[in-house]
Amino acid sequence: MDNQAKLVWEKCNTVYNKCDGEKALMKAYDEWATEYDRDLDVLNYSSPNQASQCALKYLGCGESTKILDVACGTGLVGEFLRKNNFKGLLHGIDGSAEMLNVARKKVIYDDLFTQFILPGKPIMPSPSLKYDGVMCVGAITKNHLDPKVLEDFLNVLIPEGIILFVLSKSRINVDVAKTVDEVLKCLINSGKIEELEVRSIESAFQIEDDDVPNNIQIETSASNHIYCYKKK
Ligand SMILES: C[S@@+](CC[C@H](N)C(=O)[O-])C[C@H]1O[C@@H](n2cnc3c(N)ncnc32)[C@H](O)[C@@H]1O
Repeated sequence: MDNQAKLVWEKCNTVYNKCDGEKALMKAYDEWATEYDRDLDVLNYSSPNQASQCALKYLGCGESTKILDVACGTGLVGEFLRKNNFKGLLHGIDGSAEMLNVARKKVIYDDLFTQFILPGKPIMPSPSLKYDGVMCVGAITKNHLDPKVLEDFLNVLIPEGIILFVLSKSRINVDVAKTVDEVLKCLINSGKIEELEVRSIESAFQIEDDDVPNNIQIETSASNHIYCYKKK
């Protein structure tokens, strides 16, 4: 593994393992913002593109379709939605003002909102605004978004709207993945959602686990999964 990739893994390790709490996490992302896209490119991060293609399969690309990209960061998901021909309304929300500044410069989102999302707290400033799709890529994870926010996503969706998120089932996320399963089971059993598609993303980061330095407590390929559900 070259030095550049090692440095990127160290940054990933910082946000996943060393940033406990809103202030520390948002500071780490604020500081990472201007280099985030270039760094993720080093890791061949394919989840935003694959998630975008999957979402558009169910939502279509039409002008009247509205998508909210939760924890949009620098806007990689938005970029791929637009590259895949999405013409509708696109909003993004994230807790890091600097990540949003990078996204804003790309001029692909119709509006961007700064908010640190906690379970049970309304997601958008305007409670009347409803979306056809809510996406969340790479952010329901250790020290980031609590899986219980999945229930809050339903509040900003139209009936039959789509929730799509990408979850890493890596070693550090065992507890998060367990909670995700519990939350989904509860939402399915109470008739609030139905499954459309759940599958792994091949080589989300195209680097072998063996390439990751031993001191870095995350792993790489084969662990990212797309989860896609319809609101009932
Ligand atoms: C790994 S990045 C993913 C960004 C983007 N979705 C992507 O795939 O490139 C995680 C993002 O989640 C944001 N984030 C983490 N926890 C958050 C929270 N509780 N509320 C709002 N944003 C949060 C961070 O600021 C960061 O931009």
